[in-house]
Amino acid sequence: MPFNRAEREWVYRSSAGGDNTVAFGSTRNLTPAGTVIFANAPFPALDDHHDEIPPITIGPFCRHPYEAHSLINVSGMSFGAISKPAVKALSKGAKLANCWMNTGEGGLSKYHLSGGCDIVFQIGTAKYGVRDAEGGLSEKKLLEIAAHPEVKMFELKLAQGAKPGKGGLLPGAKITKRIADIRGIEPGQDSVSPNRHPEISNNKELIEFVDHIRELTGKPAGFKTVVGDADWLESLCEDIMVAGVEKAPDFITIDSGDGGTGAAPMPLMDNVGMTIREALPRVVDMN
Ligand SMILES: Cc1cc2nc3c(=O)[nH]c(=O)nc-3n(C[C@H](O)[C@H](O)[C@H](O)COP(=O)(O)O)c2cc1C
Repeated sequence: MPFNRAEREWVYRSSAGGDNTVAFGSTRNLTPAGTVIFANAPFPALDDHHDEIPPITIGPFCRHPYEAHSLINVSGMSFGAISKPAVKALSKGAKLANCWMNTGEGGLSKYHLSGGCDIVFQIGTAKYGVRDAEGGLSEKKLLEIAAHPEVKMFELKLAQGAKPGKGGLLPGAKITKRIADIRGIEPGQDSVSPNRHPEISNNKELIEFVDHIRELTGKPAGFKTVVGDADWLESLCEDIMVAGVEKAPDFITIDSGDGGTGAAPMPLMDNVGMTIREALPRVVDMN
């Protein structure tokens, strides 16, 4: 889980350049209510017309809106949680697929930039890569990151599915000079990520923080979370209307309560936060 042997074998075969077709019908269990399927178009775009499918504009009122060309993108996995070859491979693959790659909370490295793909810079609770000496947001470093043309958007991480409400401890033994430089911390010393952004304790502060990032960088800004209480989302929408829609986050990333991770406690992974199947319909229905 979450992939079965048939899916895994299919991925191995495809990535080795082998035949990726299969015979007979699906062996996937499609009957449970809520099974996700893609809706096919009655008249699909012809293969050689794909470039004509219009991109999605995110943050149309920003100084630098982002034209996203792919519906499927690479979610945040920090350098440190994944290796240099993995980051480089994903960057190259994302460029080929014309999609974006999210940095995860471990900062921006030259390996993310190596493939030339679009990048979403994630700001985690320790503000790795954009932190000041006290662990707060360094506007100077944020502007340096924003100056990279590859960096298209900023995502503030409130929570991820595998460990909602949990911070993290990066043991000193894992903090090499290279990782320390990228994250803006001391090599060899334990680094603590708080369990939430210390400066964001309510909707108003969240809306203002996201707006501040957008104003400063000129690029679209949003946040990532896991839905626990759908009433909270409703109150967030109400508070956005009070603040004015021009202050609304440009996007919201919803993670599944059972989402992947580099390291998280199993009780949180298994028991906390709605799955994407429960959460997404609620979020979509909110408008
Ligand atoms: C190795 C690894 C590292 C991750 N690091 C981060 C991270 O830094 N920030 C974050 O928000 N999510 C992180 N995640 C979670 C993913 O971004 C994503 O939300 C999760 O894996 C669910 O998506 P999926 O079903 O496509 O895997 C990580 C996941 C993995 C597997």
